[in-house]
Amino acid sequence: MGNILIAYFSRTGEQYGVGVITEGNTKKLAEIIAQKTGGDLFEIKVKNDNYPKQYTPLVQYAKKEKQEKVRPELVGEVINIDKYDTVFIGYPNWWADMPMPVYTFLDKYDLSNKKVYKFCTHEGSGGVFSDDFAMYGHTAQNDKQQAENQVSEWLKKLNL
Ligand SMILES: Cc1cc2nc3c(=O)[nH]c(=O)nc-3n(C[C@H](O)[C@H](O)[C@H](O)COP(=O)(O)O)c2cc1C
Repeated sequence: MGNILIAYFSRTGEQYGVGVITEGNTKKLAEIIAQKTGGDLFEIKVKNDNYPKQYTPLVQYAKKEKQEKVRPELVGEVINIDKYDTVFIGYPNWWADMPMPVYTFLDKYDLSNKKVYKFCTHEGSGGVFSDDFAMYGHTAQNDKQQAENQVSEWLKKLNL
């Protein structure tokens, strides 16, 4: 199977359709992928995290970041990115796009010689790119069995 990294961005606080959560939807999905593949988890975290914890202000904040093409500075480093030959990138759909910190991550690490698979949680729009694996955020949050089944099917398609 080789060495697998699962890097993801995810929020706690108030999220659409799930109320106030203490573990993000995308994080839950990332954990299932890690458990099934034996991969290492890495959370993409921003420095000086000012993202609002309430949904509506967060939506507005994210809109501005996207319009201004901000590349928020990250904290933490992937230890030895070279050792991974497969990298999963997880993100919540934000304004039909990836959150800007995910772009910072992709700018920072050279993944060109690796297999890269992206996965997304969303509340209706699906993944940003047609190849991305997409799951409803509320399914990832509230229906572990269903989430695990969908992940298994996806991994089977990837021969993982
Ligand atoms: C700023 C923001 C923008 C969003 N934009 C969309 C969108 O365009 N389409 C969609 O289906 N869901 C959208 N959502 C819903 C999230 O994609 C969904 O709740 C996701 O599962 C949150 O994941 P997380 O808990 O890992 O942060 C948005 C949520 C936020 C906070």
